[in-house]
Amino acid sequence: MATIHIDPLEKRWIWVVGGIVGLTIGIQVFYAATAAIHPPSNVEVIDSAKLHLGGEFAEDKLGVKKEADGSYTVTMVAARYGFYPQSIEVPANTPVKLRIASLDVLHGLHVPYSNMNVMVVPGYVSEVHTQFTNAGDFPMICNEYCGLGHDYMYAKVHVTGGKS
Ligand code: CUA
Repeated sequence: MATIHIDPLEKRWIWVVGGIVGLTIGIQVFYAATAAIHPPSNVEVIDSAKLHLGGEFAEDKLGVKKEADGSYTVTMVAARYGFYPQSIEVPANTPVKLRIASLDVLHGLHVPYSNMNVMVVPGYVSEVHTQFTNAGDFPMICNEYCGLGHDYMYAKVHVTGGKS
């Protein structure tokens, strides 16, 4: 067997890099287990070009719906440069399922102080489950650069009840 020469300095860096990778994976596993923070895993495809023509993401179907079990389903469309509908209202301490699809390019959706943070990839339906604990108005901002109007792309979440 031929021996491969590895420079001692290089060897040390292999351990450093391996350690960083291990630490990063460890942090993700830790938060996934303890704080239920995890990447969205809903793989559901949709034809973005025909989004508005019918079905779940047609204009008249968008918005907040109350389900029979008391939870809420929010259906939204992200398009340059806005979220539709522009404003949603949900109660606090109630399970909320958000389903959002992009009409054009890659967008993101982030609601500060919540676990709602998802990429909205054209061709896919993004689904997030959350529960707002504090009442009040929260911005829903696009956090993926989508063009010149990216900075102005936002909507509003109004959370009713609960503690403010
Ligand atoms: Cu949409 Cu940035």
